[in-house]
Amino acid sequence: MTKRSPFITLEGPEGSGKSTQLRLLGKRLRGANCEVLETAEPGGTPIGLQIRRVLLDAKNQELCPTAELLLMFAARAQNVDQAILPALGEGRIVICDRFTDSTLVYQGAARGMGAELVYEVDRIACRGLVPDLTLIIDIDVETGLARAHRRNQRAQDVETRLDEQSADFHRKVRAAYHQLAEDEPRRVKLVDGSRNEAEVAADVWAIVEPLLAN
Ligand code: TMP
Repeated sequence: MTKRSPFITLEGPEGSGKSTQLRLLGKRLRGANCEVLETAEPGGTPIGLQIRRVLLDAKNQELCPTAELLLMFAARAQNVDQAILPALGEGRIVICDRFTDSTLVYQGAARGMGAELVYEVDRIACRGLVPDLTLIIDIDVETGLARAHRRNQRAQDVETRLDEQSADFHRKVRAAYHQLAEDEPRRVKLVDGSRNEAEVAADVWAIVEPLLAN
């Protein structure tokens, strides 16, 4: 069987800088002559972006946890089918801003829905697609939320329903990311996101580059 190209995900609590790191990684990979698809969850496709608006609109306070979970996976199923699997099939490296690990920590752990339920829906939505490498850009809750808050104000963002959860919710998110890195040390790597962009990017590249040689 020929080995498909790598599927890499970036994860992290609010305000960790993972989206910036995704862009920097994309640039670096292209500089190394790799064909790359950059994508994001929830979103990544026109239909996924419509679902994202429903999920993150601060006005949708009554959205129930089960609907939230299923909409996360609806956006992901669309992205997997329409964009991610075709790109991997063409030999492109896919780098994705959040994936099922986000659902595991936000809905599974912080909302308390449990990992089993998340993996059950994942089986339907992602059909066995698991990242080859996951980088968690780690940041403490207070620093991350302060960064996210500044960004939302600058952009006059209305997609704030989830970042507006309590600090306790976000502490559970971070603890669950740490647990995930401990449970799956081969796939999941923690990167200290408290430093400047270039330092974090250097660490990210040091972890990603060896994967390209395989
Ligand atoms: P973003 O700000 O990184 O684009 O992420 C959007 C928000 O959605 C963020 O608060 C994390 C949350 N989220 C979940 O709760 N579950 C998921 O499965 C995903 C992908 C994101």
